[in-house]
Amino acid sequence: MLGRTGRSVGVVGLGCWQLGADWGEVGEDQALAVLAAAVDAGVTFLDTADVYGDGRSERLVGQLVAERGGTGPGGPLTVATKMGRRADPHVAEAYTLDAFRAWTDRSRQNLGVDTLDLVQLHCPPSAVLGTDATYEALDTLVDEGRVAAYGVSVETVAEALAAIARPHVASVQIILNVFRRKPLEQVLPAAAEAGVAIIARVPLASGLLSGKYDESTTFAADDHRTYNRHGEAFDVGETFSGVPYEVGVAAAREVAARAPAGATTAQTALRWIVDQPGVTTVIPGARTGEQARANAAAADLAPLDAGTLDALRAVYDERVREHVHGRW
Ligand SMILES: NC(=O)c1ccc[n+]([C@@H]2O[C@H](COP(=O)([O-])OP(=O)(O)OC[C@H]3O[C@@H](n4cnc5c(N)ncnc54)[C@H](OP(=O)(O)O)[C@@H]3O)[C@@H](O)[C@H]2O)c1
Repeated sequence: MLGRTGRSVGVVGLGCWQLGADWGEVGEDQALAVLAAAVDAGVTFLDTADVYGDGRSERLVGQLVAERGGTGPGGPLTVATKMGRRADPHVAEAYTLDAFRAWTDRSRQNLGVDTLDLVQLHCPPSAVLGTDATYEALDTLVDEGRVAAYGVSVETVAEALAAIARPHVASVQIILNVFRRKPLEQVLPAAAEAGVAIIARVPLASGLLSGKYDESTTFAADDHRTYNRHGEAFDVGETFSGVPYEVGVAAAREVAARAPAGATTAQTALRWIVDQPGVTTVIPGARTGEQARANAAAADLAPLDAGTLDALRAVYDERVREHVHGRW
């Protein structure tokens, strides 16, 4: 169940940032193939945002959704989008009811729906999440029928806990993966207690946890794994989960060595997230249909055994923790 939305979604969804921009070239046909492969493999939850390719991701998702029976009550698919990052400058004062109406109207048009299933604040400044007026404005969007439910996407554990305490927040999206374990301590228990959905993003640490990169791997100039490697454009935690690249490559080798027979390293990393109590859905991004299919199949793997879980915890404690745990 997707928290307080009342909608049921699968444990593996699809992240649709790649279908917009910022990951090198992904042509329109390729993007549609990713969406089709995911839905054909049983994915029912799609996560996008108004800024991914300045609306391109939303429009492609809308096209797919229209072909596949729609969203909303009775529709087979659930689409979550995000708003806030169109604000320029991106400051707390930009998060007004008027802006929310304009942003959601544009997303409704892009997605071709009257009512958005779920709109998430897109990593707003922390002050936005501590302000009553924010939630009052979001409640108004629900009353007006622009959105069926709202949630937040956040950077830090503190921001997640602030949002979970609000009565109508349906979902919290946060980075949770083998290299980012801090939400296990307080956020997942608090969300489970409150009935708030947890949407786990960046589950493969931007691809590191597939185990396929090495120290000499390069990425395209228009891929954030090149241009945001040190946080030059947005929070560095969104790129390789904030783990320094060479540290992440070495740690991913150790994760790969623990992948159970019959599972790839990426599937092992996804399964680890699915197994965490309190997780509602995990949203790996994909640039090919093959990746989307393989990721969807992680839903059917057996839970990881205790030995594997211990080994993955040791990789975190010994290699990764010092780089991320105190920061987010
Ligand atoms: N602030 C926010 O709210 C926010 C921020 C970030 C992400 N998100 C959401 O979370 C979603 C997921 O995060 P993400 O896309 O940043 O990172 P991710 O899911 O950790 O990594 C995606 C990358 O992993 C690689 N990959 C995926 N499946 C694979 C497979 N089966 N085998 C091998 N490699 C595979 C691909 O890299 P290659 O391109 O190298 O093939 C893909 O581009 C996004 O799409 C977006 O919807 C939200």
